[in-house]
Amino acid sequence: MSIIVNEAAGTFHLRGKRISYLMTVLKNGQLGQLYFGKRIHHREDFSYLLEYAARPMASCVFEEDKAFSMEHLKQEYAVYGTSDYRSPAAEVLQENGSRVSQFCFRGYRIMKGKPKLEGLPAVYTESLEEAETLIVELEDQVTGLRLELYYTIFEEEGILTRSARFINQGGKPLHLTRAMSLCLDLPDSEYDWIQFSGSWARERYPRARRLEEGIQSVGSMRGHSSHEHNPFVILKRPDAHEFQGEAIGFSLVYSGNFLAQAEVDTRGTVRMLLGIHPDWFDWKLEPGESFQTPEAVIVYTDRGLNALSQSFHRLYQRRLARGYWRDRPRPVLINNWEATYMDFTEEKILRIAEKARELGVELFVLDDGWFGGRNTEHAGLGDWVPNRNKLPGGIRGLSEKIEGLGMKFGLWFEPEMVNRDSDLYREHPDWILRTPDRPSCHGRFQYVLDFSRKEVVDHVYRMMEKILSDARISYIKWDMNRSITECYSAALPPDRQGEVFHRYILGVYDLYERLTSRFPEVLFESCASGGGRFDPGMLYYAPQAWTSDDTDAVERLKIQYGSSYCYPVSSMGSHVSAVPNHQLGRTTPLYTRANVAFFGTFGYELDLGRLSPKEQEEIKAQTAFMKKYRELLQFGTFYRLSSPFERNEAAWMTVSRDRRTAIVGWYRILNRVNASFSRLKLAGLDPDLEYEINGRRFYGDELMYLGLVTSDGSAGEMPEGPGGSCDFDSRLYLLKA
Ligand code: DGJ
Repeated sequence: MSIIVNEAAGTFHLRGKRISYLMTVLKNGQLGQLYFGKRIHHREDFSYLLEYAARPMASCVFEEDKAFSMEHLKQEYAVYGTSDYRSPAAEVLQENGSRVSQFCFRGYRIMKGKPKLEGLPAVYTESLEEAETLIVELEDQVTGLRLELYYTIFEEEGILTRSARFINQGGKPLHLTRAMSLCLDLPDSEYDWIQFSGSWARERYPRARRLEEGIQSVGSMRGHSSHEHNPFVILKRPDAHEFQGEAIGFSLVYSGNFLAQAEVDTRGTVRMLLGIHPDWFDWKLEPGESFQTPEAVIVYTDRGLNALSQSFHRLYQRRLARGYWRDRPRPVLINNWEATYMDFTEEKILRIAEKARELGVELFVLDDGWFGGRNTEHAGLGDWVPNRNKLPGGIRGLSEKIEGLGMKFGLWFEPEMVNRDSDLYREHPDWILRTPDRPSCHGRFQYVLDFSRKEVVDHVYRMMEKILSDARISYIKWDMNRSITECYSAALPPDRQGEVFHRYILGVYDLYERLTSRFPEVLFESCASGGGRFDPGMLYYAPQAWTSDDTDAVERLKIQYGSSYCYPVSSMGSHVSAVPNHQLGRTTPLYTRANVAFFGTFGYELDLGRLSPKEQEEIKAQTAFMKKYRELLQFGTFYRLSSPFERNEAAWMTVSRDRRTAIVGWYRILNRVNASFSRLKLAGLDPDLEYEINGRRFYGDELMYLGLVTSDGSAGEMPEGPGGSCDFDSRLYLLKA
């Protein structure tokens, strides 16, 4: 039993194999937080955890009790007023102008498994035994606003999910101006805060600093989760590292505007908030209407950051991603974007595909430029009809020819966008997000369709459905190449404009849901100018995402390393591209480009016909290697071993579930003259098994405790590098028990 309730004391103990989460009803009826961390014994009375003190300047709830101040109590879902001054989890604007509310305990429900969140992505269970859900029911008596707090605890892992649902049971309309998914008050602030930040082409670099008094936060107001900050942060103890110590990961299953915030008060407690960004958020609730927040996922570990990441990987791989491709190794693909950009003909495409097939590639993906008047960035978006000048037989004709070569065919779309120079825009100029009487900014000469409107989503669905059912399409790359500004919908009244950002994302989810249900075997890859929407919300619909537009191997090391703190290898689109690299101008060896891309959903992004015969042989070996080991590479247990943010030598590895096979990726950024000898401590192996590496045998304990010798001369498995004579060198080591 995971959820233990002491009704007399009003206490709830959520208890899995690894964690305990404790809360209680406070004496004013609000919900207090008692503990979150490593699993502890249950006891009937946890009241000793409610610490009170009469403090000067505290505002108090009861005249007869100078010690009861919400300012000094840890809470589950705080509001402004009722004596608390920290950032609240919710704010409700009432008709009389008041923003004070107070949610008091009314009851609770417990269910096995986990309920679905209507219209929103969320993790799920496959059997009722995996998890248990507590729904705490609260109410604001003055407005009649009901609040349901959802907590799902997973039995096996240290995972808890949270969300909130508001139901207006009063007689008057209300405005929710803040509705966070999670509020967690922690008793001390001895943590490092790690955020995952960057920009286009350098997404999700881990950035750590000590928590300080005051507010620290990251977020997005761009309408998508963004390249700048990911909806994922970690609080870790200062002495915790990859293999040891306490850490808590906070992840939001959402793709729109978000805020992740830690507020440290001057008595050293922390309030974590995670949810939809409250700026510009204003959701009107008429009597009888309800609002469901997105879901937040919290993972606790006392075994270091690798363990934290592995819990997220397992959860997001197996209980967030869905459908046909969830557990299947992904096809080796070739994408024509960096090979041709928009300048292609059918003949050119077939030539690229044919060569790729010869070298072992399984799926050809036609990128941007195949539709409407799309020859440059200025035109065509919105017109999802094949450009017959480029493709005389249309998409059906091309897809049949590609299948005739013995490959699968995939296609690029950017469903949410429109160019002014398009039939769609000429017909429906009012279908874009645009503020009345003001100019609209463009991004890449494109405008954002108002996906908060059902008729717009319906129209795009019909166009995409037509192409998908007419041609032989096995894969979709769903791109999104600009952020939202001047957010305003012509279809909503003034007092509902604060809903547009969220309604937009609900429209995106709706289109994804419809397409993935109608075409369940199509593999979807999400993309937003690379990693601008690399978030758990997207993973619910598309099990993989284009990790970054930066395809340089050295840059990708950092991007994939940073992404791996939350996201599984099976979700990271990673391709070998041409040199000099198109984003950076750097030339890296072909084997290093592959050795990095193998740790992802592998593919190519160049014209393979332009490579020398020797390089083409190398590609053949790469595709054969990937096909042989992709199950392990994409679904094995992944360990970060040495950080490219800290060292010249970076490394990671993946281990099979039975621990009999493993692959280590070792990368040296710059060559060094007269370098030190080096050893790399591996992880996750069976200490008592002997592993063969290149004909030599080592026990697991040797490899983990004294390390694998990586000094020059210790050649890797495949493909062969020149062995220590160049920059950007790398090796793969294959371990077999
Ligand atoms: C941005 C994507 O990230 C690229 O891979 C490519 O699809 C272009 N858009 C096409 O416009």
